[in-house]
Amino acid sequence: MQAFEIQNQFGLDNLVAVEQPVPEPGPGEVLIRLKACSLNYRDLLMVLGHYNPNLPLPLRPLSDGVGEVTACGEGVYRVQPGDRVAGIFTQQWLGGRLTYERARSALGGERQGMLAEYVVLNQEGVVKVPARLTDAEAATLPCAALTAWNALMVAGNLIAGETVLIQGTGGVSLFGLQLAKIAGARVIITSSSDEKLERARALGADETINYRETPKWAKVARQMTGGNGVDHIVEVGGGQTLGQSLKACTIGGHIAMIGILGGNEATIHPTDILMHGICLQGIMVGSRDMFEAMNAAIEVNGLSPVIDREFHFSEIVSALRYLQSGSHFGKIVLNF
Ligand SMILES: NC(=O)c1ccc[n+]([C@@H]2O[C@H](COP(=O)([O-])OP(=O)(O)OC[C@H]3O[C@@H](n4cnc5c(N)ncnc54)[C@H](OP(=O)(O)O)[C@@H]3O)[C@@H](O)[C@H]2O)c1
Repeated sequence: MQAFEIQNQFGLDNLVAVEQPVPEPGPGEVLIRLKACSLNYRDLLMVLGHYNPNLPLPLRPLSDGVGEVTACGEGVYRVQPGDRVAGIFTQQWLGGRLTYERARSALGGERQGMLAEYVVLNQEGVVKVPARLTDAEAATLPCAALTAWNALMVAGNLIAGETVLIQGTGGVSLFGLQLAKIAGARVIITSSSDEKLERARALGADETINYRETPKWAKVARQMTGGNGVDHIVEVGGGQTLGQSLKACTIGGHIAMIGILGGNEATIHPTDILMHGICLQGIMVGSRDMFEAMNAAIEVNGLSPVIDREFHFSEIVSALRYLQSGSHFGKIVLNF
């Protein structure tokens, strides 16, 4: 079978195709023939060596993949051949709280990833995907969708009628928009592009702000809520945006700290957190229990993930360069 690995050193040019034997499932394990994978910003950081330059090489990247179970090892009861499954992001985080040990079981980093024609995973590390989604759509769920679900529905306890501010129109953000809408929230979304903001409106966004034209958007967001501030923020900008998020948030509001697209250093005022009783909470994707709950919500509400562009599996480097360009709206998918 074919797979892709970062071989001797990190870098896009060092991500190369390799021939490997099809792995065999041991007791409790399943063999999956991949149908589609999706890209996350983390995958780009991983390949560039910016995520954790100390990870041992060779490393097979990508956390997100969907495929068909083609064989099961002894004692497998959760799935059977023919089932369509996705790997869960952190293989050992099934429920409860994240622990250091669970955090170290992430695919495409600490564990070998999904960028191969076949992978073997423990039966506990897979979930069946919503039947109404295509393979490409289902492949977008394990990281981006689940992160947005955890941020808003689990950590954020979103209630219908609340206001959510979403930053940007990448993978996590558009799932944040779609999930907030099915939960009955009002959504303000920011983007660097008016054209993307128009597309976000078509997906249900109620208010839009161009953060390139209005870098200090907190005041505008507050005005959009009659001066109260927003209840939830999906914070993906990090250094560039956290200060604005703290100023846009209402008393007792929730900021889900997810990404650092705008750098890892910020000047913030601790009193903004203190005086407004803001809950600033780090998010690490989500557990298998959360994934299964999200899949049910996707089925019931007919949510269709937004795919910007599809590439062939062999075009992984071009697909990562496209992600790096930031011109996408939603998810980038690889087909096998
Ligand atoms: N903590 C977790 O569990 C977790 C899980 C998933 C992702 N993440 C992190 O979350 C971030 C987003 O990941 P992703 O995969 O969704 O990325 P992505 O699809 O590559 O999203 C990129 C988009 O983010 C927007 N953006 C970039 N800089 C921004 C800024 N300063 N302010 C507001 N928006 C900005 C841009 O949208 P416009 O083009 O519309 O401006 C850009 O197109 C990354 O930092 C990633 O590492 C964390």
